[in-house]
Amino acid sequence: RPRILRCSISPRPQYIPNRIPDPHYIRIFDTTLRDGEQSPGATMTTNQKLDIARQLAKLGVDVIEAGFPAASDGDLEAVKLIAREFGNNKNYNDEEYVPVICGLARCNKKDIDSAWEAVRHAKRARIHTFIATSEIHMKYKLMKSKEEVVDRARSMVAYARILGCQDVEFSPEDAGRSDREFLYHILEQVIEAGATTINNPDTVGYTVPSEFGQLIADIKANTPGIENVIISTHCQNDLGLSTANTLAGACAGARQVEVTVNGIGERAGNASLEEVVMALKCRGEQVMGGLYTGIDTKHIVMASKMVEEYSRLLVQPHKAIVGANAFAHESGIHQDGMLKHKNTYEIISPEDIGLHRSDDESGIVLGKLSGRSAFRSKLLELGYDIDGKKFDDLFWNFKSVAEKKKNVTDDDLIALVSDEVFQA
Ligand code: KIV
Repeated sequence: RPRILRCSISPRPQYIPNRIPDPHYIRIFDTTLRDGEQSPGATMTTNQKLDIARQLAKLGVDVIEAGFPAASDGDLEAVKLIAREFGNNKNYNDEEYVPVICGLARCNKKDIDSAWEAVRHAKRARIHTFIATSEIHMKYKLMKSKEEVVDRARSMVAYARILGCQDVEFSPEDAGRSDREFLYHILEQVIEAGATTINNPDTVGYTVPSEFGQLIADIKANTPGIENVIISTHCQNDLGLSTANTLAGACAGARQVEVTVNGIGERAGNASLEEVVMALKCRGEQVMGGLYTGIDTKHIVMASKMVEEYSRLLVQPHKAIVGANAFAHESGIHQDGMLKHKNTYEIISPEDIGLHRSDDESGIVLGKLSGRSAFRSKLLELGYDIDGKKFDDLFWNFKSVAEKKKNVTDDDLIALVSDEVFQA
């Protein structure tokens, strides 16, 4: 069997949320507007949030967590506006695709009332309620006993259902550090009370992939009633493991993953949408049992740029998928390979994420490590077909410029050529 060396575009049609119970389908829950906005300094205006929500809909995310309505009047209004946008609105009234609009709420009536007031305008509305379940959070933050926490969780999920919300997500905050038996018990209780999605936050990014995968597998195996709900992941990135943990969770049975564009979020951020989605697209078929998402990946670059601009959180150049260097090649060996066959050093085609290089752009960046073949190809791109000794001289002149400059630009090359060729 030939080895597959590059990502294949999934042959599956785009999934229609809430309609096809395909066991391999992974729902994308985007929380850029809620957890993402919790990044220090990332506050966005209401109009910016609406723009992002529209872009998320272009991507085809299944759930948009639009905010935390009880946090401020501004948040309440923004969530309401987004819910209306995806309400019985002619733009999104297409039976085939309307994202679920979700609002976050702590386990208290006031928060749940605010969340419902905001999201009920959506065609598909969800309340996401949470309470901490780890010893350290219950003892020092909530100052509540286990019984009180269970009682609060159960009664608030039931309350959200009584208000009329048919889609209620419950998160045991800090599940990654919570006692397993306690988790099974509280989750059983909230499922009985009407929760439809059970999310498992690794709130402080403490777990490693094998451990997080086991957590999901254990919850799936030991929680009564779990087979009737969707299991979800929410992985923070404190140890840089959020994408790996999310994928481990999906492989262990989670069918919703919570992510943010560019991975923004509290502290070190969340699992990034583009990494999780492209990992599933790239390797889901081969090594993750056929898991796939419904994301239209060609809108990823635009979403990333929009979130970068509005949140003012700059994307690091070497960030996977959307960083400026993600498709740039500088060393001579890599450039030579790329010129011979793109699959040598690119596993994803830039066009798949909406990054369009013109035919003569190869992603090759000339620098001091570049070799002759990249240099020749760049000269040809600029219209210079030079051979023999002139080419050799030019190449060594270019190397000495590259020693002094990080990147040698087209203008530098044109200047070098005019010095070498036209003055000779
Ligand atoms: O990190 C976390 O625990 C959360 C929950 C509210 C899902 O953001």
